[in-house]
Amino acid sequence: MPVTKDSKKVYLTHASGSSAEVYLYGATVTSFKAASSEGGKVEERLFVSDTAILDGSKAIRGGIPVVFPIFGPPPTDATAFPYHSKLSQHGFARTSIWTLNSEFETSDGGVVVELVLNPTPEITSAFPPPFALSYTLTLTSTTFTASLKITNPGSAALQFQTLLHTYLSTPSHLDALVYPLKGLSYKDKTRGGNTFVEDREKVDVKEETDRVYAGVGPEGKLTLEYGGKEKGGVEVEIGGFVDATIWNPGEKTGSAMGDMHAKGWESFVCVEPGYVSEFYSLEAGKEWVGKMVLKVF
Ligand code: BG6
Repeated sequence: MPVTKDSKKVYLTHASGSSAEVYLYGATVTSFKAASSEGGKVEERLFVSDTAILDGSKAIRGGIPVVFPIFGPPPTDATAFPYHSKLSQHGFARTSIWTLNSEFETSDGGVVVELVLNPTPEITSAFPPPFALSYTLTLTSTTFTASLKITNPGSAALQFQTLLHTYLSTPSHLDALVYPLKGLSYKDKTRGGNTFVEDREKVDVKEETDRVYAGVGPEGKLTLEYGGKEKGGVEVEIGGFVDATIWNPGEKTGSAMGDMHAKGWESFVCVEPGYVSEFYSLEAGKEWVGKMVLKVF
C-alpha cells in the first residue's frame, strides 16, 4: 500500500524505495528517505532532533513544521494586527491537528496525500479570520513536493505570513553551502535584525545563522550542497514563496534548546521557503499557493 496511517501519522511509500512520514499534529513531515539517483542508497534527508517532543504538546523540533499565520514572534502592532499579535511564535498551524483528506497515486507513480486544516472553535477563539489550509505532499523516487494552498472564504482580506520550516539533514553544517543568494538583501536576526546585502557566491552555515533573504521567489531554486568529502545535497525549488530563511542555532543557542539533542545543530541546515518579510494580503474569496520541491542529487 503506498499510503498507510495510524492514529498519529501518515506513511507514504514509493515503489522505488523512497518513503515519507507526516504527523497529523502540525502536518509536520518528519521523514523523507530517498536515493540521489535510481539504484542509489536510500537515506534520510530530513533532520529530527532525538529529543523532539512527539506527544502533541509542543511543535516538533525538526522535519518540516508548517508556519502560519505569523512567522517568528507575533507582530507588536496590536491595532493593525489585533489577532496575530496575540498568537504564539510561528502561529498555530504547526501545533494543530490536521486531517487526512485524500490519498492517491499519479499516473507516473507519484504517491500523494492531502492534509487539511480548517478553523476549530479553539483556533477561532484566538484567531477569528476565516481561512482554509490544504497541504498536498507528493513523493517520487528522488523528490518530495509540499504544496500549501491558503484559501480565504471570508468577506475581508486575510493577512498572513507562512513558511515551510525545512530542517535538511547534512553530514556536517561546517561543510554545508547554500546558493545562489548573492546580491539579495537579508535581515540578520543575529545582528539586531539589521538588513545587509549578501556578497558571497555560496553561503556557509558554520556559525549561528538566522537570516531572512528577500527576493528568492516567487519562482526560484536554492541548493544545499553538503560540501567537504560528501558528494551531493538537496535542491529546493520554490514557487509562490518570495523569501527564504536560512537558520542554524549553532552551539550556544542550540545547546540551550530543551528539545535539541547534544550537537544536533551540527547535522542540519534549515532552508525555509516562506512569505515572511511582509504580510500577504489575500483578498476575500481568493487562494494563494506556496510550493516547495526537494530534489536529492
Ligand atoms: C527560524 C527563526 O525560522 O526558527 C529563528 O528564524 C527561530 O529565529 C527558529 O529561532 C526556531 O524557532 P522555534 O520556535 O521552532 O524554536
